Amino acid sequence: MSAPTKQKKTVKASEDATPTLAPANATTATAEPRKRERVFSGIQPSGTPHIGNYLGAIRHWVAEQDAYDNIFCVVNLHAITVPQDPDELRVNTRRLAAMLFACGIDPERSALFVQSQIAEHAELTWILDCMTPMGWLNRMTQFKTKAGDERETVSAGLFTYPVLMAADILLYQADVVPVGDDQRQHVELARDIANSFNHRFGETFVEPRALIREVGARIMALDNPERKMSKSDGEASYIALLDPPDVVRRKIARATTDSQRTIVFDESRAGIFNLLTIYQLLSNQSREQIEAEFAGKGYKEFKAALADIIIATLELIQRRYAELAADPAQLDALLKQSADRLRPLAEDTLRKVKDRVGIV
Ligand code: AMP
Ligand code: TRP
Repeated sequence: MSAPTKQKKTVKASEDATPTLAPANATTATAEPRKRERVFSGIQPSGTPHIGNYLGAIRHWVAEQDAYDNIFCVVNLHAITVPQDPDELRVNTRRLAAMLFACGIDPERSALFVQSQIAEHAELTWILDCMTPMGWLNRMTQFKTKAGDERETVSAGLFTYPVLMAADILLYQADVVPVGDDQRQHVELARDIANSFNHRFGETFVEPRALIREVGARIMALDNPERKMSKSDGEASYIALLDPPDVVRRKIARATTDSQRTIVFDESRAGIFNLLTIYQLLSNQSREQIEAEFAGKGYKEFKAALADIIIATLELIQRRYAELAADPAQLDALLKQSADRLRPLAEDTLRKVKDRVGIV
């Protein structure tokens, strides 16, 4: 098949004619030019969301809702790239969605939906799978780490996981993808896939870029500050967003520090540095202010203050979470409203793609 050769030109958000995400009360997308850049990000419904997810990702999504046109997605199709218990997956998917709203994702300003609600994700993935060289996927370091010695037995889906992620992003013509450092290579791949498709078939996709934050990009495990806080490690390593106050106090009291006394931001003292970083992010104070506040005080006092500020943050989240958990119909309605609002965008992109590729 010979593809039409088109001049390469990067689609800019400001000049493309992609429909703008309509306000929450509209039923379909409008065709006005975009005023703000569009964000797309996803989070997997596996395990328990923790303060690492909150400080490294969710908090930024919440804080920057006015700066962008926002789309957030609970990626349950990504979750099944590794074995899942069906009932647990269902529960975790809804729990994470409720948690994101509870953390402050505002349905009036942001779309938040579950990946499987919009079938176009899977359909675009197949087409992009057929356009993506094996060699590009062979270079993905996350697959190498996750598959390890099990390369022969892990699913083909785990291997093509980054193509599904590319489809998520490209379907909505997103400009910006806020993620942790571990996802940088996947966003680059999405960009390469968009670029090569545009070359071969003519301008179709916006080429997205990753947005990676420095401070808080890596919150470390409480019981081992050399490792990233992760929901797949033991309970003592993380603070779950649903942990009650007494559990927070106990986990912080037991968190690894060192045998020194001063409470200062010193990266070579990984344990206390990590706890101070959490305090800094939650209190919005400067490092100097915090060091002054705890000058001459001991770890016990600092840990009590840290536990207090974590508990205060979680209290608000947990209260809103409890409301949504008690009203599943409301949660369903919010998710459906977002999915219905986004579907025309996804359909529009997929229609273009199929047309260019020659799929009737
Ligand atoms: P995951 O839980 O791996 O699906 O990650 C969801 C989001 O939270 C991604 O943007 C991650 O980069 C971020 N994240 C996960 N763990 C941490 C951590 N320990 N510190 C900071 N950000 C994290
Ligand atoms: N792979 C991402 C992670 O594990 C989650 C994800 C899926 C995502 N699709 C996405 C992130 C699209 C950003 C954009 O964290």
